[in-house]
Amino acid sequence: MFADLTGFTSLAEGLDPETLRTFQNALFETMAQAVARYDGFVEKFVGDAVMAVFGAPRAHEDDPLRALEAAQAMMQHVDALSASWAPRLGRPVTLHIGVHTGAVVAGSLGHGAGSAYAVTGDTVNTASRLLSAAAPGTVLVSEATHAMVWHRFEFAPAAELALRGKTQAVRVHRLIGVRSELASARGLADLGLAAPLVGRGEAIAQLLAAFDRMQGGQAQVVSVVGEAGAGKSRLLAELLARLATDSRFAATGVRRAACSSLGEPTYATFGALFREAYRVDADDSLEVARHKLQQGLRALGADADETDAVAQVLNYLLGIEAARPSDIEPEQLQRQITLAARALLERRLAQQPLMVVVDDLQWADAASVDLLGEVVDQLADRPLLLLVSQRPDARPLRSGRAPCSTIELGPLDDADARALVSHLLGAPADAGIKAVRDLVVARAGGNPLFVEEIVRSLAIGGALVRTHERWACAARYDALDVPATLYGLLLSRIDRLGAEDRRALQEAAVLGAEFDSALLQRIASEPRTLEAALQRLASADLIRADAAAEPSSPRWRFTHALLHDVVYQNLLLTRRTELHQRTGRALEALLDAAAPAPIDGEGRSPRRLAELEALGHHWSLSPDKLRGARYLLAAGDWARAVYANDDAIRHYERALRTLTEAAVDPATAAPGSESEREIAQLDARERLADLLGLQGLRSEALAHYDTVTGAVERRPDPVRAARVLRKVGGLHWEAGERERAGACFRAGLEHLGDDGDPIERAHLFQEMGRLAFRAGDNATALALAQRALDEVPVDAAERTRAASVVRAEACNTLGVALARLGRPAEAVAHIESSVAQAEASHLLQAACRGYTNLGVLYASLDPQRSIETCLRGLATAKKVGDLGFQSRLYANLAVAYCALTNRCEAEGIAAARAAASLDRRLGLLDHLAVPLIVLGQIYQCHGDHAHAFASYSEALQLAEQIDEPQLLFPCYDGLATLYLDTGRAEQAETYLAMAQAVCERAGLEPDALMVLPFLC
Ligand SMILES: Nc1ncnc2c1ncn2[C@@H]1O[C@H](COP(=O)(O)OP(=O)(O)O)[C@@H](O)[C@H]1O
Ligand SMILES: [Mg+2]
Repeated sequence: MFADLTGFTSLAEGLDPETLRTFQNALFETMAQAVARYDGFVEKFVGDAVMAVFGAPRAHEDDPLRALEAAQAMMQHVDALSASWAPRLGRPVTLHIGVHTGAVVAGSLGHGAGSAYAVTGDTVNTASRLLSAAAPGTVLVSEATHAMVWHRFEFAPAAELALRGKTQAVRVHRLIGVRSELASARGLADLGLAAPLVGRGEAIAQLLAAFDRMQGGQAQVVSVVGEAGAGKSRLLAELLARLATDSRFAATGVRRAACSSLGEPTYATFGALFREAYRVDADDSLEVARHKLQQGLRALGADADETDAVAQVLNYLLGIEAARPSDIEPEQLQRQITLAARALLERRLAQQPLMVVVDDLQWADAASVDLLGEVVDQLADRPLLLLVSQRPDARPLRSGRAPCSTIELGPLDDADARALVSHLLGAPADAGIKAVRDLVVARAGGNPLFVEEIVRSLAIGGALVRTHERWACAARYDALDVPATLYGLLLSRIDRLGAEDRRALQEAAVLGAEFDSALLQRIASEPRTLEAALQRLASADLIRADAAAEPSSPRWRFTHALLHDVVYQNLLLTRRTELHQRTGRALEALLDAAAPAPIDGEGRSPRRLAELEALGHHWSLSPDKLRGARYLLAAGDWARAVYANDDAIRHYERALRTLTEAAVDPATAAPGSESEREIAQLDARERLADLLGLQGLRSEALAHYDTVTGAVERRPDPVRAARVLRKVGGLHWEAGERERAGACFRAGLEHLGDDGDPIERAHLFQEMGRLAFRAGDNATALALAQRALDEVPVDAAERTRAASVVRAEACNTLGVALARLGRPAEAVAHIESSVAQAEASHLLQAACRGYTNLGVLYASLDPQRSIETCLRGLATAKKVGDLGFQSRLYANLAVAYCALTNRCEAEGIAAARAAASLDRRLGLLDHLAVPLIVLGQIYQCHGDHAHAFASYSEALQLAEQIDEPQLLFPCYDGLATLYLDTGRAEQAETYLAMAQAVCERAGLEPDALMVLPFLC
């Protein structure tokens, strides 16, 4: 908050310096008092302006409210000051004020004696700009502040304002004053978010039971205890609403008071109860109040003495400043106050049972709390129910004589929390909403307020949108920010801690929302006192022991994910970075101790994925980002090796991001690490692209490969260049672009030259061989596949895996070409050998191809075996995550079911459709013709001519585009027979001729194609 006097300079010009100085002192004093009253911090006085901070050095849950209360108080006090100074100043003076809310960097600036606590950052600049824009006598607040206080204060309609130094106009709000009525439920209803009470059945039952006992003439004290947002106020409101339909309740009086987080003056809480009873308004004078009270008491049957006794201490009870201080001894005074309070209550209780409800008792003044306890004690045998709510760390309300019970409002269980989100968002939920719901439940940790605020911030942030009375999940959202409305609440819990506990909590936060005691011990700055600090943090309910952890390695978790985030985000970047580095080192040391191999270097990396992830996480947030990226790459490889492709993608993407960050931070780069960084970046990109391609995200994959190719031009690496070209060629071929694919393979060979890596060269020959096969040139396919096999060095032992891949693939190509050349026995032998090699080296993708082809080749020999092989292939393709093979296998299965079994209707059609829809979704145009042909054949077989025509025609278009004989032939042939079936001999002739022509051109036997439909 910035506040300053308007027109100070011109005032200073016309004034005697000494007068000016006296005035200035009075002004600063006034302003400082207003700030202090709301526990703010005067950061500095500049000229005639004050800069005050609310939320630092110590946060409260309601700092924005405090700032505006202080602003209002300042305005009023300065008006008073102006009135008394106007004669000497020659004119009235007034303030203008600007308030903004946001993150700042807070701490000591400078060194030694000259250092001072200071707050810096863009938030400060914005507040000062708001000050400049505020007209004399006004308070201008930003949108961010407005969002946190609008339920308590009233504002003029928002205006757009161009602020100096800001490129975009900002929305500002001019403060008018305190709202006469509090807005309900923090504006959730305006957003269309509302929910009935979920759970809490037992708590309500307990409350009703206490109510019944009270009706029986026994005073009751019931405390509802729960952390902020647990639902205390809501529970009290629900109880009252439920009782409203109860006949006994009609005769029960209710007094309600809610204590304010800004603090209550002495007896204010107690006074509030009586103000309500006797309709004493806030601005009634003592005289008016006395009058109202006398009337009220008389109506209740009190005599003059009694009324007098109350009137004497009424100013205390109502919190009204008396003109004359009381000359009664303090102890006597207190006795009198107690007596009066008791008399008031007693009178009322003589008429009817009474329920006194005090919400947020933790903020009540101590005098009121004592008084309440005392009075209940004295009226223990009357129908009085004192129902209070409070937070767990507050002093409990005690009564020696009336039975006291406590209702603990713990977190909602997951089912209730989910129900709450479902109510807020309304049924029915689609999959997107369900995912949001689970995320909210996980983040909120069973706190209903957190649930609401997270949902609200998602709605305001646009992740959730409401259309036609329904919520839908809009954009992609990853991590969720802590809702601004909860930030202060959570931060205040941390700021309340002692320095040692806070430090322990911060260090724990660097480890994560769940953390390991032993690891924390290793990075803690005070390891010796750590255990005690953790125990204290647990009793303050900030962390909890993880019950599922092994007793030998205790683990803890933050009670709320949000709490963790706030602690973490409030660490300064430098400290955070340093702590991550410490953690990275500690983890390496721990793992070293477990396995005596060093962490760095080839082949010696820790094996477990979780360890790699943790190392990657901490190092990538440390100054040594390159080290982090290497661990992330290793984690990706690890996940990839077990076909956890989504995880692998995540790790590679993060590695890439980390490396990009490392690039913009050359200060932290070690000498010579730049080239290492670039290489790591290429690795991450290439491996990411491999996986994206597998998942059918072809254009994303191509973009990454292109970047790699571009980089290789600057930093020659022929093997990588050739490899990437081969992969790019594969992607083109999948999209039906045979020419481009061939060009890529040839370019790859060129890059490699004659003495380049033999295995990569083998790969390229083998790919070209497959391409030749698909183009119908079986002789060339045979030659190229054989060439590939010859290229692989016999002693390729140290690179067994890479060599096995080529061998398995080349054998497969040999097999399919032989099959087409009418040599089925050799074909099966080669492909079986391909599968055997692939299985031996766990090359599941190569195995998939083998299964696909064997499924076709077995079809004529052993139908059952064919189906089994296809199913086995399908399971493997699913495991690998290769959607392309899944579609091929579905198509083959369809053929097998329909041609060889009577399960065409039941399973064949479904399989063919599954294949076609996968191909369409993934844009696999080189294959889509296959399931279409299969479908055409099935429809034709069932006499459904219209559908058969449609399927064949679409297939034919695709087949002509890629010009592949094994696809063209069945289209022509199918259409020819269809025309025959429908009696159009002429057209049938034409297509028959075309079918023959294809076979002649490719040197194929039509019969071979009938039996062996599609090989790859
Ligand atoms: N059991 C519940 N079912 C549905 N909404 C709830 C429930 N408990 C609390 N809420 C909602 O959560 C928010 C926070 O509850 P509140 O009663 O204000 O918490 P507290 O008084 O404990 O700080 C409110 O908007 C309230 O309506
Ligand atoms: Mg409350």
